[in-house]
Amino acid sequence: MAGLLPKSKKDKKAEKKAAAAAAVVEEAKPVESEKPAKEKKDKKDNIKADNAASKKQQQLAKEREKLLEALARTNSALEELQESLGDEGEDAAPLAKKDVKSAVQDKKKNKKEEAAPTTTKKEKKAAATPAPAPVAPAAKQPKLTKLQEQMKKTLAGGKFRFLNEQLYTTTGEEAFDLFQSKPELFDEYHEGFRSQVELWPQNPVDIFISQLKPMSKDTVIADLGCGDAQISAELPKHNVLSFDLVAKNDRVTACDIAHLPLEDASVDVAIFCLSLMGTDFLKFLREAYRVLKPNGKLKISEVISRFTDVDAFVAALNALGFELKDSDSSNKMFIMFDFIKPAPGASSSGKKAKKGSKKAKVQEEVVDPSNVDLEELDGPSLLKPCIYKKR
Ligand SMILES: C[S@@+](CC[C@H](N)C(=O)[O-])C[C@H]1O[C@@H](n2cnc3c(N)ncnc32)[C@H](O)[C@@H]1O
Repeated sequence: MAGLLPKSKKDKKAEKKAAAAAAVVEEAKPVESEKPAKEKKDKKDNIKADNAASKKQQQLAKEREKLLEALARTNSALEELQESLGDEGEDAAPLAKKDVKSAVQDKKKNKKEEAAPTTTKKEKKAAATPAPAPVAPAAKQPKLTKLQEQMKKTLAGGKFRFLNEQLYTTTGEEAFDLFQSKPELFDEYHEGFRSQVELWPQNPVDIFISQLKPMSKDTVIADLGCGDAQISAELPKHNVLSFDLVAKNDRVTACDIAHLPLEDASVDVAIFCLSLMGTDFLKFLREAYRVLKPNGKLKISEVISRFTDVDAFVAALNALGFELKDSDSSNKMFIMFDFIKPAPGASSSGKKAKKGSKKAKVQEEVVDPSNVDLEELDGPSLLKPCIYKKR
C-alpha cells in the first residue's frame, strides 16, 4: 500500500537525482556499434601525427643538408680567395666537424628567434601603433657567428702575411704605389702587425719612446716608417716628424722614405723602428744620412731573424757614413742599434782631423755616402724578409 501513499517531497527529489545519474551513466557508456569506429578514428589520428612528425624530420634533415652544402661552398670560396692572395691556404683547411655543428646550432637558434611571435604588451602596442615617418636606419652590423668570426680571422691572417711579404719583396716606391692606390690595405697590414707584436715580450717602439722622452723638446726627431705615429702620439710636446706610405692621421706625412720631404741636415734623431722593409732599404739609410745634422743620431730596431750577419750589416752602415755607438741584442725578437753621423772630418774616435789636412780629406771622401755603390753593398743579402708564421 505504500505505493499508493503520496510521495513526500524528499522522495521525489531522490527519485529525480537517481534518474539524472542513470542518464549520465547511459550517455557515458559506449554504444556497442560505436566502439570500432572510435578505435579506427584514434588509429587514424595516430598515423596522421606520425606522418607529420616524420615529415618535419625530413624537412629538418633537408635543411641541415642545405646548410652543410652552403658551408662547404663558403669553405672552398675561402680557400680560393686565399690562393688568389698567394697563400697556400693552410689556415683555410676544411672546416672541422665541430665548427659545422656549431654553425647548425647557430642557424637553428637564429630561426627560433626569427619565428618568435611578438607577445609582450609593449610589442603588441608597438605593432598596433602606426609606423612613424621613415628615418634612414643606422647601418646595423650583422652579428657574426663563431664560425664566421673564425673565417674572418683566417682571411685577415692570410691578407696580413701577403701584404707583409709585399713590403719586404718590393722597393719603397712600389710599396708606396700599392698602398696609395688601396689605402685600406694599410689598416689591414697594421691590424695583423699589431697582433704579431702583441705576442712579443717587449715592443721596440716603447723602448725608443723611453729613450726619447728625456731629450730636449727642441730635438728634431724623424720617425721613418712610423705606422700610426705612436712616438709622436706619446711625446706630444716633442718635435716629432712622422713619415709612412699612408698618412694614417694628421701627424703623418705620406711618402716613400727613400725620398723624404726634408732639408739636408735638418734632423737630430732618425728612427727606423722595424721599417727597413723595402728591397732598397739602403736608400732609406742614405736618405737618413742626408737629413741628419752632423753628430745626429740614427736609431734602428730590426727583427733578429732578418740578419744574416750582424757585422756585415754594421759594415754596410759604416760604408754609408755612420758610426756604431751601441747595440743591444738582449731581446729575443729584435736588435737595437745606435749610430751617429759623425761631424765632417771627425775620426772614428770622435776626434776631429785638422781642417784641410790630408787625413780630413780622406775621411770626408770615405764617409760621403753619395759615392757609395748601393748595389755593391747588396742590401737583400744583409737583411732577409721577415715572414710571419701562420697561426
Ligand atoms: C713593421 S711597421 C712598424 C711601424 C712602427 N714603426 C712601429 O714600430 O709601430 C713598418 C712600417 O714601415 C713602413 N714602411 C715600409 N717601407 C716604407 C717606405 N718605403 N716608405 C715609408 N714607409 C715605409 C710600413 O708602411 C709600416 O708602417
